[in-house]
Amino acid sequence: MSEDQPRLACLLTPQRNTQYADLVAQLALPELQMSPLGALIVHAETRAIAGLPFLVLTLSQTPSDEQLVHLGELSMTRGFFWLDHPTGEARDMVLRPIHIAPPRGLPDGLLYARRYKGKTNEDLTRFLLNVARFASNFVQAPRPLDVLDPLCGGGTSLFAALSAGHNAYGIDHARRDVESTASFLRQFLIQAGIRHQIREERLRQLGRRWTFTIEGPDGPLTCVLAHGDTRAAGDLLSGLRPHLIVGDLPYGIQHKGAVLDLLTSGLPVWARMLRPGGGLALAWDATRLPREEMLAAALQAAPDMEFLDTAPWNDLTHAVDRVIKRRDVLTGRRRGLQADDRR
Ligand SMILES: C[S@@+](CC[C@H](N)C(=O)[O-])C[C@H]1O[C@@H](n2cnc3c(N)ncnc32)[C@H](O)[C@@H]1O
Repeated sequence: MSEDQPRLACLLTPQRNTQYADLVAQLALPELQMSPLGALIVHAETRAIAGLPFLVLTLSQTPSDEQLVHLGELSMTRGFFWLDHPTGEARDMVLRPIHIAPPRGLPDGLLYARRYKGKTNEDLTRFLLNVARFASNFVQAPRPLDVLDPLCGGGTSLFAALSAGHNAYGIDHARRDVESTASFLRQFLIQAGIRHQIREERLRQLGRRWTFTIEGPDGPLTCVLAHGDTRAAGDLLSGLRPHLIVGDLPYGIQHKGAVLDLLTSGLPVWARMLRPGGGLALAWDATRLPREEMLAAALQAAPDMEFLDTAPWNDLTHAVDRVIKRRDVLTGRRRGLQADDRR
């Protein structure tokens, strides 16, 4: 490490709850390592500056503007500064703010406003979206990408996608969840004065579907909510070829067999829909179902996918609460396109 190497101070995303503060501290560095800035990181340390927790990175060189732009989308760090010591004294430091425009999408109040039991933490959801994108060949592709959550519940990942300027598609078999999510989205758009149209359809023997066409800041955005079984995803959302798939597998299932069943019957369908080069990130409770078993099942269920099992991709376990002591993230990419291919 040399004194000339640029140092980037990244403020850890503030959390209301100490339990989530631990999660942020654990996942902040892997998220940066997975991002296009990752190749430049030569050293990382956490440090309190003015009483606030920062991750300080020493970089091999100054990043390009194309690399820096990705900071605006990170979930576990928010607020970035160049850190200098003009007099050489450690205590004498200057923080120069880095001005990065966040991605243009729907207001992120959409993501944070609603509270309900079983909601996946919002920042963790944004993290999953980034993991899938960084694993994919669509990191630099123009927006909107198409994002599918095949287990969308109350729609946290759909709202994370819309607020990042992407199209969002979700499926859940809990009818009340899908209906209340559709009505929340409608209310939110009305209150925020955002123009939109809604089409509601009944799909014979499959379920129901709400299609929102929303006036986004840079053009129309689509959000589709489908009520039905995720194993029929190909029919519920026929024609959809998502760039990214993001999901949080169900908790509270006593037997790991139930999660494995869902994975072995759902993943082949989801993987077939995913575009070549598309990325997938699924969170699951690894307390009962260890990573090796999850990986083995995934490899068998989706031979067209490669699963990323080297650091930092295999280093994402974190505690959620006293019950879910170990959640992990399975990351994959559909084979087919080379790293520089675009849509
Ligand atoms: C952990 S929750 C997802 C929570 C969601 N991320 C949120 O923040 O609201 C898992 C979801 O999977 C759904 N699910 C489980 N099995 C399913 C199936 N076979 N088809 C569709 N949805 C299913 C459940 O109804 C539940 O909403």
